[in-house]
Amino acid sequence: MLILGIDTSCDDTAAAVVADGVKILSNIISSQTDFHRKYGGIVPEIASRKHIELIIRVIDEALSKAEVTFDDLDAVAVTNRPGLVGSLLVGVAAAKSIAYCYNLPLLGIHHIEGHIYANFLEHDDIPFPHVCLTVSGGHTLLVYVKEGWQYELLGSTQDDAAGEAYDKVSQYLDLGFPGGPIIDRLAQAGKNVVDLPRPMLNSGDYNFSFSGLKTAVRYFVEQNRKTGSLPVVEDIVASFQKAVVDILVQKTLFAAQSKNVSAVTLTGGVAANSELRQALSEAGEQRNIKVYFPSRVLCTDNAAMIAGIAYHKYQAGERAGLDLNAMASAVLDGI
Ligand code: KG4
Ligand code: ZN
Repeated sequence: MLILGIDTSCDDTAAAVVADGVKILSNIISSQTDFHRKYGGIVPEIASRKHIELIIRVIDEALSKAEVTFDDLDAVAVTNRPGLVGSLLVGVAAAKSIAYCYNLPLLGIHHIEGHIYANFLEHDDIPFPHVCLTVSGGHTLLVYVKEGWQYELLGSTQDDAAGEAYDKVSQYLDLGFPGGPIIDRLAQAGKNVVDLPRPMLNSGDYNFSFSGLKTAVRYFVEQNRKTGSLPVVEDIVASFQKAVVDILVQKTLFAAQSKNVSAVTLTGGVAANSELRQALSEAGEQRNIKVYFPSRVLCTDNAAMIAGIAYHKYQAGERAGLDLNAMASAVLDGI
């Protein structure tokens, strides 16, 4: 069964063709980063306008790379929630038009459910139930994932998402946008020399807080700039990243052990982080908990994950009507 997936929830215009929920025939992602870079963050108005310019070309490319036409498709699935509403609307309008013109079933997918599914595109031995850590620019969530795509929210960030903290710290240090991949690279040459807080590390629950850590970096940089005693940037970002990774790893394993699961999955943009992938794998190994993460291209926003989960939703009988709408915020069942 061939599903065309579309994701325009934030600043990436993405379309993919996936067979039977697992075989990626194409996965096209057109990044708008260059247009947002000079603003130091995503400008929603620019994002939606760029999606309009790019969406048809990206869908065409996804079909031609997969060597299929609209007539070969069995369904079309689109992220309709949550996200930037202007961005989401472009993908939803495109998917609805295709569904109408080609008489195809339509599915509206929750973006986070797509991220949670990303690991299933590459691993066929993930047991249920398991714990999933979703860490992106907009979310930091610990989710208990049960058989039949049932979810229970264990905890989430009380303020900034981990990716947001990466992007802000990068901005304070004039390193560029998006901050995650830049800090990831620089931190590899740095040492953990700055004493930074690890908010909520021992809060006894599964919630997170990154705002205080981000602000601590900012104060540290401002004060030490004045006195001329600022360590090299590699050491500052290595210290910041160590704090983020300590928090994410400790909380995730605490959740996994409390829920007595044998597996943990990692997903979302920050899941591309080298230190996080390594530290979580090592900590999991020590506790006999298997850690799964996807290839980097499936960590960040993509449409293969949307087409993938849509296959299971289709099999379960889910369909959306042509009144499908975009929603800026939305709960996932159980989340
Ligand atoms: O999942 P995603 O592409 O979009 C959202 O749904 O938010 O995540 C984007 C976030 C950005 O904050 C970016 O800085 C972060 O993921 N990110 C990383 C890395 N690559 C992307 N953070 C840390 N290390 C990375 N290698
Ligand atoms: Zn995302």
